[in-house]
Amino acid sequence: MGFVKKNVYELSGNPFNEIGKEWFLITAGNGENYNTMTASWGFMGVMWGTPSILCAVRTNRHTFKFMEDSDIYTISFFDESYRNALNFCGTKSGRDYDKAKETGLTPIEIDGAVTFEQAKRVFVCKKRYSEMMNQESFTEKSTYDKWYSTDPMHKQYIGEIIAVYENE
Ligand SMILES: Cc1cc2nc3c(=O)[nH]c(=O)nc-3n(C[C@H](O)[C@H](O)[C@H](O)COP(=O)(O)O)c2cc1C
Repeated sequence: MGFVKKNVYELSGNPFNEIGKEWFLITAGNGENYNTMTASWGFMGVMWGTPSILCAVRTNRHTFKFMEDSDIYTISFFDESYRNALNFCGTKSGRDYDKAKETGLTPIEIDGAVTFEQAKRVFVCKKRYSEMMNQESFTEKSTYDKWYSTDPMHKQYIGEIIAVYENE
């Protein structure tokens, strides 16, 4: 198995299932110092004329600082057999655990970013826009109350997809 570069316009799949049900890892940093976390919210589409992904990271995540400090990061998808690994990365913090060691995922560098050998599809993203969500912008108070009454806000990141790889 190895990563083969693909054309983003020729990918197959359903982003609603892949993002919302299969989940993905957001990984930021470099080979010496990186962090990864599971996410299941986000968007894929076209922004400012280029294929892009929006992801949202709450400010209390260890990954948040890595996202702030990184120009390039990866969005990585996995087979169902890695569900336990994604569960771990989505319930434990890199502050307390070496997630690669605990899950058996093998970090590798690709195009100046970090992903994992076991990923089935990897988007390398270049940060193009980031903005804190804010209470005033919610049109329904109930949405704000449901998601942010106890937990910190998300910061949203729109990344231009600069490469996509599939494991073949
Ligand atoms: C299925 C699933 C989806 C998640 N989606 C997000 C998300 O979109 N944004 C976010 O900030 N946290 C999300 N989380 C929570 C983080 O993955 C979790 O808090 C993680 O432990 C953070 O790790 P870190 O502190 O090493 O960054 C999700 C967790 C799970 C299990």
